[in-house]
Amino acid sequence: MKINHPILIQGGMGIAVSDWKLARTVSQTGQLGIVSGTAIDSVMVRRLQDGDKGGHIRRALAAFPSQAIAQKILTTYFIEGGRPEGQPYKRQPMFNIVSPVALLQLNVASSFTEVWLAAEGHSGLVGINLLEKIHLPTLSCLYGAMLANVDYVIMGAGIPREIPGVLDLFSENKKAGLKVPVEGAVEGTVTYFDPAVVMEGMELKALKRPYFFPIVSSATLALNLKKKSTGRVDGFIVEGPLAGGHNAPPRGQMQLNERGEPIYGPRDEVSLADMAALGLPFWMAGDYATPEKMQTVRNQGAHGIQVGTLFAFSDESGIDRNLRLDAIKTILTTQPPEGGWIFTDPRSSPTGFPFKATRLPGSISEKDSYLGRKRICDLGYLRHSYQKPDGTVGQRCPAEPVADYLKKGGAEEDTVGRKCLCNALMADIGMPQIQAGGVKELHLLTAGDDLNNIGRLVKKGHGTYSALDVISYLLGPEVAKTKLSPAPEKNSML
Ligand SMILES: Cc1cc2nc3c(=O)[nH]c(=O)nc-3n(C[C@H](O)[C@H](O)[C@H](O)COP(=O)(O)O)c2cc1C
Repeated sequence: MKINHPILIQGGMGIAVSDWKLARTVSQTGQLGIVSGTAIDSVMVRRLQDGDKGGHIRRALAAFPSQAIAQKILTTYFIEGGRPEGQPYKRQPMFNIVSPVALLQLNVASSFTEVWLAAEGHSGLVGINLLEKIHLPTLSCLYGAMLANVDYVIMGAGIPREIPGVLDLFSENKKAGLKVPVEGAVEGTVTYFDPAVVMEGMELKALKRPYFFPIVSSATLALNLKKKSTGRVDGFIVEGPLAGGHNAPPRGQMQLNERGEPIYGPRDEVSLADMAALGLPFWMAGDYATPEKMQTVRNQGAHGIQVGTLFAFSDESGIDRNLRLDAIKTILTTQPPEGGWIFTDPRSSPTGFPFKATRLPGSISEKDSYLGRKRICDLGYLRHSYQKPDGTVGQRCPAEPVADYLKKGGAEEDTVGRKCLCNALMADIGMPQIQAGGVKELHLLTAGDDLNNIGRLVKKGHGTYSALDVISYLLGPEVAKTKLSPAPEKNSML
């Protein structure tokens, strides 16, 4: 069966940069809007504590299949009118191999809410993006997205071989498990999610099995995923090293350029002919966002492109408005630093993958301002599982306070240069935690190299542009105007 997938995918961007508002806008034009599922429980509890302006979260929760769970969440986190100025956000517990049921319920409701809002009131396609390297919240997040009838699941930063099988099991409301690597142990462990146990007060009905696209950096990996996954893979996103967020490390021994960034070479280039030979649709990502580049890759067999950076700096993005406008203004009016506005940092991310950061004034990618931050680990999404001396499994993050990491048996060199992306990315979307002593967490904007050329979208005299401008630029003004005409058929596979 030939499936009519959209040509343009608005890439998933965490944390909540591609939120439901951005995804909803894109999806209404007949293209694919992707929400981010990363840390989505933190996003929801903070939106509720900020008073849920517009009532969107409460509207979505009113449609949640378990009202017992929805009510519990509102009672615990919602603050009418928002937190008093300067009051820290109340924290939910951190995920573990076996997480508290209330946390799993919160995560299900959070991803449900994000997808439900993105899909509300139109028939366009909506997907969710997750990072493979983050294991513990994944199952509950996928289940919540499926409860909201998500059309696509896209997963990067790792090799998500087990996800197709999980989607199959969840479509029948069956218990699923996900392997979790454990540092220092010969074998990993498994985290489980069982809808029958977690979803109190809810009738379990069959769910649609979404399409699944892993993000790959080579045709070999794509072939491996096609052949060895636990179920059906429906297509691929092929992402190169110029994309925003995390990048796959270069092949072979990592070498750095004079600025300290990983050097990518010909071995990191992906052959489109090899991708086309796999017989599944694929989209190119990482500095492909021009009509000419899109046409070139389509001529070489790609179905289309996935675009991040241009959407991340559009009006509908979840990035804090002031940060976004300041960034655009600086780029348009200032000489860029040597090497451009983007730094690919091989050390900052606790995942160990290179992570792109902007080099804008005031950004914590400028080492000096970041070094003053007191380390704290209070969100914990990027913690790794490790084996304790007594054989049980603990959690540690190389960006947590160094003494804590060492106490947990971690090596000091692992902690060098690590940044708390969890807190920084929450600050990017205007929800910084207020730590002890009233200290606000710092932001760290990530973007792809395409940020250097953002000027091509910015309207004269406005200092900004919309997501529809991006679509119109890439696909022509007619596509951006098709808001009211029928969108591609929804995936109705059960
Ligand atoms: C702000 C930002 C955050 C991103 N976060 C994620 C993420 O959480 N997961 C992911 O798979 N890709 C992430 N990406 C990559 C995008 O989904 C997309 O593949 C990439 O940006 C495409 O390249 P472009 O930026 O040149 O358009 C992010 C990109 C940006 C700009």
